[in-house]
Amino acid sequence: MSAIQPPAQRVWWKQPVHKEEILWIVIAFAWCLVMFFMMPYWHVYGKQNLSSETYRVTPALFQKAAEEMVAKYTVRTETDEKIPVVHPPAGADIYLIARLWAWWPILELEQGKTYRLHVTAMDYQHGFSLQPENINVQVLPGYEHVITVTPNRAGTYSILCNEFCGIGHHKMVSKLYVK
Ligand code: CUA
Repeated sequence: MSAIQPPAQRVWWKQPVHKEEILWIVIAFAWCLVMFFMMPYWHVYGKQNLSSETYRVTPALFQKAAEEMVAKYTVRTETDEKIPVVHPPAGADIYLIARLWAWWPILELEQGKTYRLHVTAMDYQHGFSLQPENINVQVLPGYEHVITVTPNRAGTYSILCNEFCGIGHHKMVSKLYVK
């Protein structure tokens, strides 16, 4: 069979399939199923993907909640921009704002305590990346992403923006303290 001499039997799907070919189709299909079910399995047992909840929110509402937290629990300020460092009580709802090109405020958490971390963007899409833990969450304006976190190691973590957001993207870095 070739293009110069086309096959006599043109209705190819009515021709018998070779045993070996059937075997490969079965193997490939079984592997597809394995990979498909790995997705939910790995989400639960892989210990790497955080389950987050997402709600609609307006920037103004979110900012109000964040400002209330900052007003109550600020313990000091850092950097030339005087970014507040907030030490909320264990178990609290905590708020983090992403905007061009900063994270606000700086959070100081207690080791072994569980918090509800709310994140949103004020303007464009940003990416919350906590290093070196490598926790990554998309941050979208108009949406409040809520992640239940229990920091299990003390230290100073870096927060980076990992979604390109313009000329100051590389400067959009912050810290998170766990004590
Ligand atoms: Cu924000 Cu990149």
